[in-house]
Amino acid sequence: MSLLHVKSFEDYKETYKKSVERPEEFWSGIAETFKWRKKWDKVLSWDFKDLNVKWFEGAKLNITENCLDRHIVERGDKPAIIWEPNEPGEAHRVLSYKQLLFKVEQFGNVLKNNGVVKGDRVCIYLPMVPELVIAVLACARIGAVHSVVFGGFSAQSIADRINDAKAKLVITADGGFRGKKVIELKDIVDDALGQCKSVEKVIVLTRARIPVSMLKGRDVWWEDEIIKVETQGNPHCPPEEMDAEDMLFILYTSGSTGTPKGVVHTCGGYMVFTGYTFTNTFQYQLGDVYFCTADIGWITGHSYIVYGPLSQGATSLLFEGIPTYPDAGRFWDITDKHKVNILYTAPTAIRSLMGFGDEYVEGKDLNSIKTLGSVGEPINEEAWEWFHEKIGKGKAPIVDTYWQTETGGFLISPIAGITPEIPSFAMFPQPGIQLVLVDENGKEIEGNDVSGNLCIKFPWPGMLRTTYGDHERCKKTYFSTYEGMYFTGDGALRDEHGYYRITGRVDDVLNVSGHRIGTAEVEDAINKHSDVVESAVVGYPHAVKGQGIYAFVVGNHRHTDEPDLMRGDINKTVSRIIGAIAKPDKIQFVSGLPKTRSGKIMRRILRKIAEGDTSNLGDTTTLLDPEVVEEIKRGAEEMRSK
Ligand code: WT7
Repeated sequence: MSLLHVKSFEDYKETYKKSVERPEEFWSGIAETFKWRKKWDKVLSWDFKDLNVKWFEGAKLNITENCLDRHIVERGDKPAIIWEPNEPGEAHRVLSYKQLLFKVEQFGNVLKNNGVVKGDRVCIYLPMVPELVIAVLACARIGAVHSVVFGGFSAQSIADRINDAKAKLVITADGGFRGKKVIELKDIVDDALGQCKSVEKVIVLTRARIPVSMLKGRDVWWEDEIIKVETQGNPHCPPEEMDAEDMLFILYTSGSTGTPKGVVHTCGGYMVFTGYTFTNTFQYQLGDVYFCTADIGWITGHSYIVYGPLSQGATSLLFEGIPTYPDAGRFWDITDKHKVNILYTAPTAIRSLMGFGDEYVEGKDLNSIKTLGSVGEPINEEAWEWFHEKIGKGKAPIVDTYWQTETGGFLISPIAGITPEIPSFAMFPQPGIQLVLVDENGKEIEGNDVSGNLCIKFPWPGMLRTTYGDHERCKKTYFSTYEGMYFTGDGALRDEHGYYRITGRVDDVLNVSGHRIGTAEVEDAINKHSDVVESAVVGYPHAVKGQGIYAFVVGNHRHTDEPDLMRGDINKTVSRIIGAIAKPDKIQFVSGLPKTRSGKIMRRILRKIAEGDTSNLGDTTTLLDPEVVEEIKRGAEEMRSK
């Protein structure tokens, strides 16, 4: 038990009350538990109108000193990272805090040797191997800003992210393993770099041992660079002293309009918030083995594989592969093998594994599990019950953590074993999080047994500070829909007890297998196909993925002869432009889209048709061409009956 753990439900209520009444005092108390080069002059200054939020102003720190150096004396030989490879036959690796620090310092020097200085942006496109954690921390060590790109994104997406951030250096691998597949990461990076003028160097890690192209002067091998550093003789790389509000990283995420935005997180507040929420929400105890199944390419991996756990001296298990390889029992094998105490995963994974049947769980020793966690989308009751019974053996609490890339860490969640939990409810605001539900006019909805749009009216240390290179866009996207508040984009209800349940996005953002995808982005990609006139993309309920992608496409001539070939073409186009994760699950060709007289696509109608609910489409008389709705309905029924 530490200062960071709330100790009882009563304690949670008191802590929450204090955090709202005296936020500065509350957060500075939490911040005191971290290591600072210099303490802050001011805990908080803020203005949501011009979006200017500063936490721990004047403070100096390096987050890696908190994640590594400060644990060396007491926990130097304790495991920081346990790495489980894709192939169960390959040896796993354990990196103690000492070893991890050593490697981070080494690689920090590699980055410096390759011209990276404080403030430079570095793009990281690596598989889930320990070197990914090392690369991330090495950037933070020298004050470079990392931008990790998930391995499922295409060359075009990498290029867009590199160009937006003007990244100077890229870190990748020859290839990565995911189940039976080899992902040719370096090839994909090479395709991207044709469009990227800012990139001077590419560091390539050997992982898959597949042939890759290496350009003299630009591309260097990770392993060679390490040898160079070794021969230089100095094993140390002192932590760069950072201001609390200096940028720590950029992570691109999709919104309802336009291209993905680079969400910016800063050093001090993000560290305090992720460390605190990690320890408190999971009730992490030193020595626990903690396994988060997310990919570091997403915010969950940043906050709750790397920074949160490591700042707390935890043991964080990193898994390279996928839940169904070599079979659907892999998570449970890993749990058994490494005696996992806390398992944090996504509803889509639970639903998929549940579908394979209980035989994959039976016979696995899951007695080590004491806490379970879920993230990414609302967890349906059936999945919750299965997780609770089959994995938690009816004993382990489940924390359903609601949060976002933009929030840095948990906003709403039970606290493991401390607060009550109800399946499909995220339950309680975390200390320091001041939630409000508002109606369409932005008026606060008070009392219980109500629902509305979920906003936050007071800053918290882990919140985004800007979107890279475009502060106006950040203000507009998050802080202008409802004046004076951060708008999450989600709807929520507060039940008669005051417990929160997230009802899902109210904007045009989809959540497919826990991956966030903007409908506008998918439409833009589809529309780039030479035979497409226009398209409209909506989500529909999908038994495993949570949401599937449904595209209504107006094409010219060709599709009428060979619709399946055209569907394949469209999928290929979307894979090229965004990545395979954004491929539509269903494509329906239509002769036109339902539009208002002013030309606005009536998505409400398309959503209903995609959901298979055409009984009440609402008023269609304002449509330019009401006939088109009948045609789309017929087409959708035809597709379903096939
Ligand atoms: C969106 C954020 C936060 C890490 C993973 C996703 C949805 C997330 C929950 C939950 C219901 C959830 C929301 C949110 N979401 N967690 N526990 N219950 N919905 O991060 O890609 O930034 O997506 O995921 O709709 O807005 P992200």
